[in-house]
Amino acid sequence: MAILPLTFFISFLITQLAITNSQPILNSVEQESVYRVLDSLNSDIQWRSLFPDDLCSSAPHGVVCGYTTLPTATEPGSVNIIELNFGYVSDHNPNPPCNPNSTLPDPVIFSSFPYLRKLFFYNCFTTRPVSLDPFSSLGSSLEELVFVENPSLFGSLTGSIGNMTSLKRLVITGTNVSGEIPGGFGGLLNLEEATLSRNRFTGTLPENLSNLKNLKILDLSRNGFSGKLPATIGELRNLIKLDLGMNLFSGEIPGSMKKLRFLELLDLSYNGFNNSGIPIFLSEMRKLKGLYLSGNEFGGVIPDIWKNLRGINGIGLSGVGVFGNIPSSIGVFLGNLTYLGLDNNHLSGGVPLELERLSMLNELNLKNNNLSGRLPFSNKFVSRVGRKLRVEGNPELCVDVGVIKSFYKVGGSLDELKVCNRLENSRFALVHVSSSSLVAHQFVYLVMVFLLVLIM
Ligand SMILES: *[C@@H]1O[C@H](CO)[C@@H](O)[C@H](O)[C@H]1NC(C)=O
Ligand SMILES: *[C@@H]1O[C@H](CO)[C@@H](O)[C@H](O)[C@H]1NC(C)=O
Ligand SMILES: *[C@@H]1O[C@H](CO)[C@@H](O)[C@H](O)[C@H]1NC(C)=O
Ligand SMILES: *[C@@H]1O[C@H](CO)[C@@H](O)[C@H](O)[C@H]1NC(C)=O
Ligand SMILES: *[C@@H]1O[C@H](CO)[C@@H](O)[C@H](O)[C@H]1NC(C)=O
Ligand SMILES: *[C@@H]1O[C@H](CO)[C@@H](O)[C@H](O)[C@H]1NC(C)=O
Ligand SMILES: *[C@@H]1O[C@H](CO)[C@@H](O)[C@H](O)[C@H]1NC(C)=O
Repeated sequence: MAILPLTFFISFLITQLAITNSQPILNSVEQESVYRVLDSLNSDIQWRSLFPDDLCSSAPHGVVCGYTTLPTATEPGSVNIIELNFGYVSDHNPNPPCNPNSTLPDPVIFSSFPYLRKLFFYNCFTTRPVSLDPFSSLGSSLEELVFVENPSLFGSLTGSIGNMTSLKRLVITGTNVSGEIPGGFGGLLNLEEATLSRNRFTGTLPENLSNLKNLKILDLSRNGFSGKLPATIGELRNLIKLDLGMNLFSGEIPGSMKKLRFLELLDLSYNGFNNSGIPIFLSEMRKLKGLYLSGNEFGGVIPDIWKNLRGINGIGLSGVGVFGNIPSSIGVFLGNLTYLGLDNNHLSGGVPLELERLSMLNELNLKNNNLSGRLPFSNKFVSRVGRKLRVEGNPELCVDVGVIKSFYKVGGSLDELKVCNRLENSRFALVHVSSSSLVAHQFVYLVMVFLLVLIM
């Protein structure tokens, strides 16, 4: 096992030597093709005069050469372009900057780089429409294909993606790319990350997506994907992150997903999933850190599944149609929770005092429910969570004067909060009375007052 790193180290060393000796290395076809790509990405810069020499001895940051066969003393290996990274990211990562008119020189340009392992574009194709087609001539050497923030990149993935058999990372995010995921996708057996978020993809997920046993990240969020999730999604055993948020998926979240034991992030929010109730099997995903299911129609009560999910730091269950009480177990077990969103449901009963135990909590949204009684939090808790404590829209909920003051200090939303009266503060308070109460409530109130007078 130690041989592999050693080999890398030796080849790295030799690359360095070769570069310092500036041996004649990069072939003219690749050298010329790099200039042509650079010119069409940014014609404001005189690439040829800035980098006149062999690009393997002196190249812009982001253009990377490498030995494609391990050189021996008698027969040096050949050197080729193995990485092309375009688009200024940061001073730490100052790739050749693209300008607003960036395009590609010709549709087959990438066939000039037969040993390319990584191709990366950040913020390059922003105004002129550039088709994804030329990238289909990339071959089986490619391991990473990354497009980040290229809003005028359009087209669709074609069957040729299936030819990129070495692909480990496919990132297409923030583009105008559309169409379906082609069947050939299921053949990319080395794929570890597929991030296709924030594009215009549509269609259903292919069943044989489940072939991708090495997949750790599947992020298809913010597209127009639809249909049911194939049950085979449970075969992606190595998934750590599954984000399908903001699509048009429907039907039930398949129970097979409980097999995703390594999952840390599950985001299915804002789709049309309709399981009856929040799935209980989530409790088997013991590594979960983020559980975001907001904006689906589940109904039912919030299940008591938290004991096994102690590592969770974010829960989004906004607008999922749940009713009943907030389980106090959330406060008991989830000590690492920083975000809890339960707003826009039909939750009733009191706010559990146990939530105050959540010492990491910095956002708690309970607004627009049917919660009642007195908000049980201390001034300290209210000051800490500050304006990210949202409780408005619960007409039967009241807040102590002191807490209201803390709220006011941190600029929290005060408009619709009701101050608790003395009765609600007393331990005999069983019923809350609001101005809109029914006559029946007023009767109960009178009886209560009567009882209190008797006791005192
Ligand atoms: C982009 O192209 C247009 C028209 O071809 C030209 O007027 C403009 O100056 C170019 N902008 C840059 C930054 O090169
Ligand atoms: C994206 O594609 C649509 C339809 O093809 C087009 O109307 C729109 O202008 C494109 N957006 C950009 C930023 O190129
Ligand atoms: C895949 O590669 C093979 C061999 O290079 C080629 O014949 C075929 O057309 C490619 N498939 C697609 C869909 O591009
Ligand atoms: C995946 O399934 C589709 C049909 O849904 C098929 O066209 C495609 O060839 C399959 N791909 C692989 C790699 O098996
Ligand atoms: C969810 O919706 C599908 C139709 O998309 C329906 O067949 C199924 O019965 C629904 N499930 C529940 C639990 O309502
Ligand atoms: C809570 O977070 C801390 C710090 O990130 C971590 O060490 C600990 O394992 C977490 N607790 C659980 C139960 O995962
Ligand atoms: C609010 O909760 C009360 C019980 O506390 C219940 O009687 C009432 O129907 C609920 N209202 C709504 C709109 O869910």
